[in-house]
Amino acid sequence: MNILLLGNGGREHALAWKLAQSERCTALFAAPGNPGIAEHATLVDLDLADHATVIAFCRTQAVGLVVVGPEAPLVDGIADSLRAAGIPVFGPSAAAAQLEGSKGFTKDLCREADIPTAGYVRCTSAAQALAALDGFSLPVVIKADGLAAGKGVIIALTRAEAEAAIADMFGGSFGASGAEVVLEEFMEGEEASFFALTDGTDVVAFGSAQDHKRVGDGDTGPNTGGMGAYSPASVLTPALEAEVMARIIRPTVATLAQRGTPYSGVLFAGLMLTTEGPKLIEYNCRFGDPECQVLMMRLESDLVELLLAVAQGALAGATAPVLADMAALTIVLAAKGYPGTPEKGAPITLPSAPDGSRIFQAGTALRDGQLVANGGRVLNVTAVGQSVTQARDTAYALADQVAFPGGFCRRDLGWREVAREALAGAD
Ligand code: AMP
Ligand code: GLY
Repeated sequence: MNILLLGNGGREHALAWKLAQSERCTALFAAPGNPGIAEHATLVDLDLADHATVIAFCRTQAVGLVVVGPEAPLVDGIADSLRAAGIPVFGPSAAAAQLEGSKGFTKDLCREADIPTAGYVRCTSAAQALAALDGFSLPVVIKADGLAAGKGVIIALTRAEAEAAIADMFGGSFGASGAEVVLEEFMEGEEASFFALTDGTDVVAFGSAQDHKRVGDGDTGPNTGGMGAYSPASVLTPALEAEVMARIIRPTVATLAQRGTPYSGVLFAGLMLTTEGPKLIEYNCRFGDPECQVLMMRLESDLVELLLAVAQGALAGATAPVLADMAALTIVLAAKGYPGTPEKGAPITLPSAPDGSRIFQAGTALRDGQLVANGGRVLNVTAVGQSVTQARDTAYALADQVAFPGGFCRRDLGWREVAREALAGAD
């Protein structure tokens, strides 16, 4: 089967690597891809906003499955266009992708389906938001409703900070994404990510992960798209996973199906493990980046078979995904300046990765045959191990062999899990 993968980050490099391993994969194309993805796929220059051109390419190349990596084309309806053209696609419709595209949409769905989440109010004006603020204790969470590349969330510790955030969002800092704002109760606990595949009816678990959102060691500094991740998240015990499936994931899938807008693709739930049990922070309508990289390192199943079963509404007949009983950890090497303005163009020389390790490329480009940095998050140095501690040690040893003077990484990735493993080992 010929497959087209859409996207150009480290997540898509990991997907390309895994898709290309499948016996079902005859030819893999990627648009726009990157130099790492080019090791596994033929790169094609398609404008993802131009659905007719994407469809025409699929017809010319007899593409039997399109895999959509990032959220923006999904929210923009690429999956609807492909489905209408009869082309199987892994990724939700625009209507179902509202789970990521609108925080208010998700909160209303949680209310309707009695899904545990923080209390909230949706506001369409600054005056309404300021009035609603009185109903919340501090800290209070203020969110731009629409897509904001992970930057549209402010945790205000004081009333003045909350008022400033409201003024900022309605003042246009997030463009149309901030035309509506959600005020939320602050939840306390440890965060974990949970992934599930669904074809709109059936649902299977696809593993857990934890990431590091802050740019600096000790979880300090500004938020990023993620500076590293590991899988599994041992805090999400089998009992908690079962609770998440029963109280959060399945009711979401059932409610969207009842509404006539079934969700097909991967559901990525950001969870807060509170003293009252797991609560939903937010949904993403795609794999996490860099969470996908660690999941793919652990995945033993044929990825094409799984994604095709989702795309064709045949998940019930598919073999459930198997993730190796190993840990995986990925280190993001970012360009200096990230998450502000990253420096572009710094040269990179990669070492060869031993078995059990991979270097996925995210923001890279080739200039006159030289690999250079071309984005904020540039490389994902990834390794598996018997424990997160072991995976971390292997990944850092490899990261230290990468020649990338224009880059930096956190040195403390996995610290929560490493501490837990040290405690367990000392028992
Ligand atoms: P989101 O983009 O909704 O995942 O929010 C980004 C980050 O803000 C989350 O990963 C949490 O660390 C934090 N956050 C969001 N909502 C809440 C909440 N209601 N209570 C506490 N922290 C939150
Ligand atoms: N790493 C978080 C995300 O992909 O949204």
